[in-house]
Amino acid sequence: MYVNLAILKETRPHERRVALVPSVAARLVKLGAKLHMQTGAGDLIKLDDAAFKDVQFIADRHKLVAEADVVLAVQPPALDVIDGMKPGAILMSFIYENNEKPLVQRLLDRKITCFAMERVPRITRAQSMDALSSQAALAGYYAVQLGTTHLARILPKLTSAAGAIGPAKVLVMGLGVAGLEAIATAHRLGAAVEGYDVRPETKEQALSLGATFVDTGIDARGKGGYARELTAEEKTKVAGVLTKHIQTADLIITTAAIPGKPSPKLISKAQVGGMKAGAVIVDLAAEGGGNCEETRPGETTVIGRVTILAPLNVPSLLGEDASELYAKNQFNLLSLMLKDNVITIDWSDDVLAGTMLTHDGKLHSAAAKPASPPAIAKVA
Ligand SMILES: NC(=O)c1ccc[n+]([C@@H]2O[C@H](COP(=O)([O-])OP(=O)(O)OC[C@H]3O[C@@H](n4cnc5c(N)ncnc54)[C@H](O)[C@@H]3O)[C@@H](O)[C@H]2O)c1
Repeated sequence: MYVNLAILKETRPHERRVALVPSVAARLVKLGAKLHMQTGAGDLIKLDDAAFKDVQFIADRHKLVAEADVVLAVQPPALDVIDGMKPGAILMSFIYENNEKPLVQRLLDRKITCFAMERVPRITRAQSMDALSSQAALAGYYAVQLGTTHLARILPKLTSAAGAIGPAKVLVMGLGVAGLEAIATAHRLGAAVEGYDVRPETKEQALSLGATFVDTGIDARGKGGYARELTAEEKTKVAGVLTKHIQTADLIITTAAIPGKPSPKLISKAQVGGMKAGAVIVDLAAEGGGNCEETRPGETTVIGRVTILAPLNVPSLLGEDASELYAKNQFNLLSLMLKDNVITIDWSDDVLAGTMLTHDGKLHSAAAKPASPPAIAKVA
């Protein structure tokens, strides 16, 4: 008896990641999985099919998923993939249901049990399964690297026979997972780092990573550890405090996000106009429209003497590490269900119930649990 796993080759533009890497494949085989992967799934990160042991490669994605008990992917799969899956089979990938209405409907129609990776609860027990965090940490690191390559100066203090150069000033706005990683990276590279967020608990986190904290006196803690939107009055107060920090920074990294809303605008056109010549902004919130009024998602813009970078799908640019961490996140989530060569879903488990998006033709809200008793996914 074994569980059939199928791993898709990603097809969305600019997506380089793959949901399985060789080290994780070996661990899945030990758990009792039989692995099937789409031919060339790792090509874009230079991971040849030959690097995978005990994996059968299938070129046609419909043949690949037809007998699968579990399908693994990074991005939401195409509709025809869902059509090819067995009713009752499991899909694990990022979904973002608000952007994927036809896909969600197809999951319901086909009675696919879908675990949406973005729904993994942000609780301590689920940290090893939290793909949002693993991917955001990589993005935070990369933002610093990207920013420095566009600066005409170095980050650390340098003393030479000709004289000394002071450290560059880096301002990180939005101190979630990506922002904190950006602080840590910029600090390691020797910059003088400042951090800013509207959740007061981030002050201690910023200080512990070597940054100073820009205190605007605003407490905008929202639900579930996330931030809420600021009122017009709060925005004015914040802008008053932030302007001088924005205008003395060499590199600004913005990561601010509010669940379900467009990215809050933290840097106005006027503030960009007053920035140092040669300064760089890396806007990691570009996917939600960006944190700067001058951001053009997916583009690099030069406004006066300031360069604004707004890369999209940053984890994909680091496809090798991003795939490894993502594959481990999915392995850890699968480990909750895959035992003794069968899949058993314990719906009383908060992590599984919280991550599940669709099951047995029903859509589940983030907090809800399925009404049905513990179910067993069909296996061989
Ligand atoms: N397992 C865990 O316990 C766990 C794991 C990961 C994250 N978390 C928590 O989840 C929460 C969200 O983390 P995330 O990285 O997904 O964050 P996110 O991507 O949703 O937002 C990034 C940051 O932007 C900040 N922000 C929003 N509006 C802002 C504004 N106007 N000005 C400045 N900053 C603003 C938010 O406070 C947040 O820190 C955090 O509280 C984080 O600590 C917990």
